[in-house]
Amino acid sequence: MKVSVIGAGNVGATCAEVLAHHEIVNEVVLLDIKENFAEGKALDIWESAAVNMYDTRVKGSTNDYRKTAGSEVVVITSGLPRKPGMSRDDLISTNAKIVKSVTESVVKHSPNSILIIVSNPLDVMTYCAYVNAKFPSHRVFGMAGVLDTARYKAFLAEELNVSPKDISAVLMGGHGDTMVPLPRYTTIGGIHVTEMISEERLNAIIDRTKKGGGEIVNLLGTSAWYAPGASAAQMVEAVVKDQKRVFPVCAWLNGEYGLKDIYLGVPVILGKKGIERIIEMKLNDEEMKLVHDSAKSVKEVMEVLDNLKD
Ligand code: NAI
Ligand code: 2OP
Repeated sequence: MKVSVIGAGNVGATCAEVLAHHEIVNEVVLLDIKENFAEGKALDIWESAAVNMYDTRVKGSTNDYRKTAGSEVVVITSGLPRKPGMSRDDLISTNAKIVKSVTESVVKHSPNSILIIVSNPLDVMTYCAYVNAKFPSHRVFGMAGVLDTARYKAFLAEELNVSPKDISAVLMGGHGDTMVPLPRYTTIGGIHVTEMISEERLNAIIDRTKKGGGEIVNLLGTSAWYAPGASAAQMVEAVVKDQKRVFPVCAWLNGEYGLKDIYLGVPVILGKKGIERIIEMKLNDEEMKLVHDSAKSVKEVMEVLDNLKD
């Protein structure tokens, strides 16, 4: 079973390393436009196989999509990351051109693949890939909610001095400052979060989660990669192993939550077919308003994309 990762930069290489290290697939192809870059990253990852005890083959390619042919899943990470002071939306015109051309090449060689988009601005780049791939929407979706939820869980685990493994949570909306963590659906070992933390501390954690990407950009001068790469790999695993995992995923909505013709983060069941079901939770009025506000800001950036000239 083959998975390709387009863009061998920070997120792409980390995703490939996690896929190999955990033997999630037999073969990982890492592709980048920069001469010899993916080959070098792939070789370095492959050389860790004997130490880390796995036999997943990792191969690199400089823009030769024939090497990706027949991939079951393709993760698209190619594109510029944020620098301090930039929002994810500032990346739109450059990354839209990259995502469009990459998607066209990917679908030519892997017409039956499932596409997982990572490039930012995430919701709109997922839309860009969908428009250009011409695949059914259950086979084109974006990674953000797994990462944003992981950040929320990390902050809660630190605050409460509990294992992040025991935290269950869901987060909705766009991958930006309007994302919607949902405390009403957050439990710690089955116990509702509000029984374990003050409202004030919980609100501070929600706020930190919304700005979690920016926090890393300010520390590193570029955006995060360990948690994003691992999050994308976890989504690949759910698909290739047909796990039916329940994750927040950036999905194409067709009336769910009263929203239509938009990519937005919602809880889904992920399996062999990609998005097997979008789960509609019974949100209260306040939660629904936050999700609709988030959708409004994603829609504005989708319109910027629709109006971009080729
Ligand atoms: P990076 O700069 O380390 O890597 C990007 C790679 O894409 C570079 O190696 C570059 O040569 C390659 N590339 C550019 N154009 C290409 C093309 N046409 N074909 C193939 N490869 C091409 O950036 P990093 O940190 O890996 O981030 C990648 C993207 O993921 C950024 O847009 C970033 O904002 C986004 N991101 C999204 C997250 C999410 O939660 N959805 C989380 C973290 C990053
Ligand atoms: C992140 O959330 C910048 O989208 C990137 O880390």
